[in-house]
Amino acid sequence: MTKAMTLEQVAAAMVAPGKGILAADESTGTIKKRFDSIKTENTEDNRRDYREMLFRSTDAMKNHVSGVILFDETIRQKAKDGTPLTKLIEASGSLPGIKVDKGTKPLPFSKGETITEGLDGLADRIKEYAGLGAKFAKWRAVYDITGPGTPSYAAINANAHALARYAALCVEGGIVPIVEPELLMDGGHDIDACEMVTEWILKEVYQQLYYANVPLEKTILKPNMVIAGKKSPKQASREEVAERTVKVLKRCVPTAVPGIAFLSGGQSDEDATAHLHYMNALGPLPWKLSFSYGRALQAAALKAWGGKSENVAAGQRAFSHRAKMNGVATLGKWDEKQEKAA
Ligand code: 13P
Repeated sequence: MTKAMTLEQVAAAMVAPGKGILAADESTGTIKKRFDSIKTENTEDNRRDYREMLFRSTDAMKNHVSGVILFDETIRQKAKDGTPLTKLIEASGSLPGIKVDKGTKPLPFSKGETITEGLDGLADRIKEYAGLGAKFAKWRAVYDITGPGTPSYAAINANAHALARYAALCVEGGIVPIVEPELLMDGGHDIDACEMVTEWILKEVYQQLYYANVPLEKTILKPNMVIAGKKSPKQASREEVAERTVKVLKRCVPTAVPGIAFLSGGQSDEDATAHLHYMNALGPLPWKLSFSYGRALQAAALKAWGGKSENVAAGQRAFSHRAKMNGVATLGKWDEKQEKAA
């Protein structure tokens, strides 16, 4: 069904109304942290069982999940009955995607900042992943406000440059790049600092994408929202987060970009949904605003599953509810009543 899709069509499908992306691309190390929280061993079979549970949540996958970001192991993995997991995803009408960055490394001469690696050999890896069914890719750059002088221009520039080189290679290789610059919300900074730094990061990202000749029509942006750090004593209202995020996006993201799919970054499940809802309620907007959540889509399902096969149905129910709530948030039609009606 998806064979003849152009990159513009893939990008449009990724942010189709009522739908968004499931980020299930946790590296083996990151999924260990998630499994530790439910006292489940981090084995290949458990990783397979957990993700198979999500991808077989038929209602959620058909109606609210436009695409799934996979990790290298998962794109090659088969379900218990031997069906490739990518085929399960495709059978529900969703698109398989792949994380292609190789994680972060310390940036020399910086105050603990990072640069995302993975450009060497990327053209060949994109080719292989496209052959395995990937229709889109993800590369995550990470920035943090840890004190005066962070993030530095060196980190902002180097990471934007890497994002642009990655995006150009994806488009050339026939897959849609998700461009993900993430300003972490772990610190104690306030919403003003987040707004200022997010604007700077996005300006630099689009400057570098321009220099690298990336056709923006074939890309999706995955940014953080404009929000106070978790440790900040002053938290903004949901409406203010929505207004400030849209304000920054309007200043920085060209209207040629078809869609913006946010990361959840450690927000509570309900906050991530509500923020997306309030942003869409501010419409009409020049791009589709959707989700590409990891934790905010999976936390409830992970807990309900608890690593036990007898809990698969409960895990699927929890996942389906979050997927549905975020789906209605893309339409600006979420409310507390639906949230509690689970
Ligand atoms: P979170 O929604 O948990 O931030 O994960 C999204 C993601 O893919 C981060 O790269």
